[in-house]
Amino acid sequence: MNAGCNRHIHSWFGRYTKKYLLLNRDDQYPVSLKIIHCQRVRREALMLGRVLGMNSRDLCVTEAAGLLHDIGRFEQYSRYKTFVDAVSINHAELSVEVLRENSVLQKFAEAEENRIIKAILYHNRLTIPANEEDDVLLLSRIIRDADKLDIWRVFAEHNKLAKDEQNSTVDQDLPDTSSFSEKALADIMAKKIVDFRHVESKNDFALMRLGWMYDVNFQQTFKEIIKRDYMSSLQLSLPQDPTIQAAFAAAQTYVTQKAAQ
Ligand SMILES: [Fe+2]
Repeated sequence: MNAGCNRHIHSWFGRYTKKYLLLNRDDQYPVSLKIIHCQRVRREALMLGRVLGMNSRDLCVTEAAGLLHDIGRFEQYSRYKTFVDAVSINHAELSVEVLRENSVLQKFAEAEENRIIKAILYHNRLTIPANEEDDVLLLSRIIRDADKLDIWRVFAEHNKLAKDEQNSTVDQDLPDTSSFSEKALADIMAKKIVDFRHVESKNDFALMRLGWMYDVNFQQTFKEIIKRDYMSSLQLSLPQDPTIQAAFAAAQTYVTQKAAQ
């Protein structure tokens, strides 16, 4: 499934990422995870664009933004051997830098290029700036939902692996303790997304992924969350604690209501 208009971007993406597979020959797993993630987010974004009734031109823009939203991850990993922005670089800003250096978005009209760049810049922020144009808001919301849909999949698969098979980059190199942060839990109980500054352990990171339920923009995304049973796989990765269970129950009700609305 593709919009059929981004052939040169697909081939550039293939060449560019292959270079990083070769550069990280002894450590390819994190690179290949991100290649798959980019492709899947492209697909999720197209799915949402279609459900929302986008025309073929906007689907083309959406597909490019989905595929390229994390393109800075490859250079980030090569330079710093981590995906933790706080100790390396803002990967969304690096993505835009890579796209500019390689003139990847040249074939788009200036307004379309700006829309793609802004959606990429906003994809990892706590919130999207409210004073943006409608078309920027729409694309940013699609990319954020598409990104979340695939990250929930990555973690569901990651959590099925035995501990010694799990790659630490997926959990942002966070410590595997039995505790969780009260602040992270407080964010969720307030139906807010968890501030990354409140994330100190793998459990907090799992709580953050639960909190993302409150940042979902489209009914279709809620439907996909239910269809793919993401809530169950999130719950499995967290300790059995009454407060956490209450947070899950509240999130579950919220997701069910939003999917039905
Ligand atoms: Fe990202």
